[in-house]
Order: sequence, then C-alpha cells, then structure tokens
Amino acid sequence: MKIGIIGGTGGMGKGFALRWSKNHEVIIGSRDAERAATSATEYTNLAKEAYGNINGKIIGSDNISVAKDSEVLVLSIPYDNIDSICSQILPEINDDCIVISPIVPMTKTDVGFECVAIKENKPFSHQMVEKHMKDKTKLVSAFHVISEKKLINPTLSLDYDIFVAGDNKESIEIINNLITEIEGLRPIYLGPGALAYLVEMSTPLLLNAMIRNKMKNPGIKII
Ligand SMILES: NC(=O)c1ccc[n+]([C@@H]2O[C@H](COP(=O)([O-])OP(=O)(O)OC[C@H]3O[C@@H](n4cnc5c(N)ncnc54)[C@H](OP(=O)(O)O)[C@@H]3O)[C@@H](O)[C@H]2O)c1
Repeated sequence: MKIGIIGGTGGMGKGFALRWSKNHEVIIGSRDAERAATSATEYTNLAKEAYGNINGKIIGSDNISVAKDSEVLVLSIPYDNIDSICSQILPEINDDCIVISPIVPMTKTDVGFECVAIKENKPFSHQMVEKHMKDKTKLVSAFHVISEKKLINPTLSLDYDIFVAGDNKESIEIINNLITEIEGLRPIYLGPGALAYLVEMSTPLLLNAMIRNKMKNPGIKII
C-alpha cells in the first residue's frame, strides 16, 4: 500500500514511516521536497538498523505530489495549518484515497494543556478537514493518543489503544489493519466522524495527567 504522510518530516511522521515501512511504501511529504528526501533517507537508515531489513521503502516528495500518489494519506500537520494545507492538497487526492487525521487542537496555557476548539470556540480538526474533502466519508480520525516518542522507537514494546472515528466501514477496516500492524496497538472504534471530537479532547487530558503526575509519554488502554 502507498502511504503518504503530509508533514512527514515531523515527529509523528517519522514514527509512522518507521513503523509502516516494514510492509508498505511510505512517501514523506513536506512543503520542501528536499527536506522530505533528506528525512526519507534518515528514516530508511533507522528502519533498516532497527529491523535488519524492510519489505517496503521510504521516499520523499513535496506535499502535493504525495497527495496525488497515495492510497492512504496521513495529515501529520499542526491544527493551525489545516485550512492552508488541506485546501491545496485534498482536491488532488484519488477518489479511493483514505485520509487519516491525528490532528489535536491543543494549546498550552497557564493552567495546563487545553483544547483550543473549546477554549476559543473553534471547529474540531475532523470537521475542519472534512470541509476540504470531496468524499468526507473517506476521512478517519485516529492516533491522537499515542506519543511520537513511542512510535519513533521501534525497539520499545507498546501496549496501547488507538481510538478510531469515521463514517465508512471499509475505510475504518483498512485503517484498523494499519493500526494492528504496529505491534502492541489495538484499534478501538468510537463511532462516526461526528464523534471524533471526543478523542481530539483526550490528548490534553492525557498530557495534563502526564505533567501533574510525572508520567513519561503516557498512552491509553481500556481494560
Ligand atoms: N507529537 C505527538 O506526540 C503527537 C501525538 C498525537 C497526535 N499528534 C498530532 O499529530 C500532528 C503532527 O504532529 P507533529 O508533532 O509531528 O507535528 P509538527 O512536528 O509540529 O509538524 C509536522 C510537520 O508539519 C509541517 N508544518 C509545520 N508548520 C507548518 C506550517 N506553518 N504550514 C505548513 N506545514 C507546516 C512541517 O513539515 P514541513 O516543514 O516539512 O512542511 C512539520 O514537520 C499534529 O496535528 C499533532 O497534534 C502529535
């Protein structure tokens, strides 16, 4: 499968690339194609170091080329840039392309980590992204509650749940499989995209728990 990562030069993008390159072609996207290529080389070396060999590969390109070429596209970009990036790239995707949003509308204030969508009465990420999609049922929200620190360390053993929200059963199944391929992650379906805001709010909750209780990169597991 061809998995494109918009903003793939960031921490989350690195984690996704390292994990999925075991079996898939991962295309790192950036506003700067050269930066994407440099990251792709770095991640390829790290993946080979960690796994010995990989069945997939990691390459890099500009965000728009990545969007055109992907079967699954991860929007690994900051909340503030959703409109500027999605308005350029989402009109370019194939009709069958499934889009993943891990985007968290979060800010740090005097009291701790807060949800900007609530604090500033702004839309949640899922709703902002779907406005730019031809077929909004192809949008799946996931990966809000796993830290990049855990994803980028392939030798670290994981045992976490990943909440998933979206409207289309087939798209959900494909993303659930990609989640399950990362050893130690379990997909937990929450419901339609209209409920994605619940998981977007869980990241500041988790980070406040982390800071106040001196935890290191916590995750969520339902027992
Ligand atoms: N970090 C975590 O542990 C974590 C956990 C769960 C969810 N998330 C969510 O996952 C997403 C990605 O997280 P991240 O930590 O990897 O993000 P990040 O490092 O802050 O940014 C990712 C990439 O977005 C691009 N970008 C940055 N500023 C931009 C701008 N003004 N306009 C256009 N593109 C810009 C950059 O790529 P180029 O400069 O190469 O274009 C950057 O490498 C975020 O929405 C975050 O809320 C993060």
